Amino acid sequence: MVKSFKIEDAAAKLVGKSTLLKTLNYIDTGGLKTPVLLMDGDRIKHNISTVGRGIDGCKVFYAVKANPSVEVLRLLSGLDVGFEISNQGELNVLSDLGVSPERIISSNPVKSTDFIKSAYSYGVRYFSYDSPAEIEKLSQHAPNSNLYVRLAIPNEGSEWPLSKKFGVEVENALTLLTEAKANNLNPIGITFHVGSQCNNIYNWNIALDKAHLLSDMARDAGITISLINIGGGYPIKYTKSVLNVEAIEKHINKLIKERFSDGSIAIHLEPGRAVVGDAGIMVARVTGKADRLDGRWLYIDAGVFNGLMESIGGIKYTYVTETRSTTGIKDNWTLAGPSCDSFDVIDKNVQLYEPEVGDIILILSGGAYTISYASEFNGCTIPKTVIV
Ligand SMILES: Cc1ncc(COP(=O)(O)O)c(C=O)c1O
Repeated sequence: MVKSFKIEDAAAKLVGKSTLLKTLNYIDTGGLKTPVLLMDGDRIKHNISTVGRGIDGCKVFYAVKANPSVEVLRLLSGLDVGFEISNQGELNVLSDLGVSPERIISSNPVKSTDFIKSAYSYGVRYFSYDSPAEIEKLSQHAPNSNLYVRLAIPNEGSEWPLSKKFGVEVENALTLLTEAKANNLNPIGITFHVGSQCNNIYNWNIALDKAHLLSDMARDAGITISLINIGGGYPIKYTKSVLNVEAIEKHINKLIKERFSDGSIAIHLEPGRAVVGDAGIMVARVTGKADRLDGRWLYIDAGVFNGLMESIGGIKYTYVTETRSTTGIKDNWTLAGPSCDSFDVIDKNVQLYEPEVGDIILILSGGAYTISYASEFNGCTIPKTVIV
């Protein structure tokens, strides 16, 4: 089997040779049930030990939403890392694993009352917010908690923007900090998100400029900002090269030093994609082929509804098929998932060697925001996660 895959250098550079080799060896052991998400445990460990290293005093909280599988969370829970959660389901998995509350923060600006109560009773004391309604809930059900207000910032150049739903402008944020203080809460911080898969380094400039301005205004209003939570956003390689984490962090560190020069500011980072994305390879099978008026179609058993949801929002994966071609010529394919819904089209104009029905197809860099979005719509299978 390993021999039937011709991994081109460009693909190998995306996810690393050892991740690919482990995947192919796993497939070789036989009994493969697809779709399945293979996660390279060593790669996750490497990623988590790398992120945050370039920013002075940075504490890392893995954004659970990127890959909430118990297998991944168990692995991470044994390492020196915190967790960012949004909802009860994410808290449940962590509490089942015995993760202590000091390692958990919640940066969802709008949380349900039940979740607030449950997280607070578990011992979680760090929450984000961006509205008076959230202050009301938090002051009632999570008194004296540490709060960080979410700023609106541009997400230009991020492939998965997160700016439309949350965040307030600086003046409004100041009002919210003051209101939180007057309501039994401890407003200590500022947060933002530059957008996921962010390939525009200047988003961090604008975000930290706004945070700096707000911090000065808060000081004048008698509130000390001692925490900046810089969210996530680090990009990974899907098909093309991206900003590297080291360069991003060097840049962020400089920006923080220039703006918060007294050195007393704590920094929280919430990476998701950069921890698990390139550690995962989705292994699927070809279920059918068809020549249609608009070209060649390839149907596989992983699709928009059971793992590859981000493909409809701009993420372009790299696919590798078994090599059967004798001509060495690739065809142009439209790739579609297993449901009967015509929304379930993963990609167009994908250059691939023609596979046979039943062949395996690898979807590289598939570790983030895949199983977390997957549903059983139309009887489709949610990929199981296996650590290799
Ligand atoms: C509040 C918050 N923090 C962190 C993340 C993780 O972002 P990323 O996966 O881009 O690192 C997200 C993603 O949606 C988020 O909403």
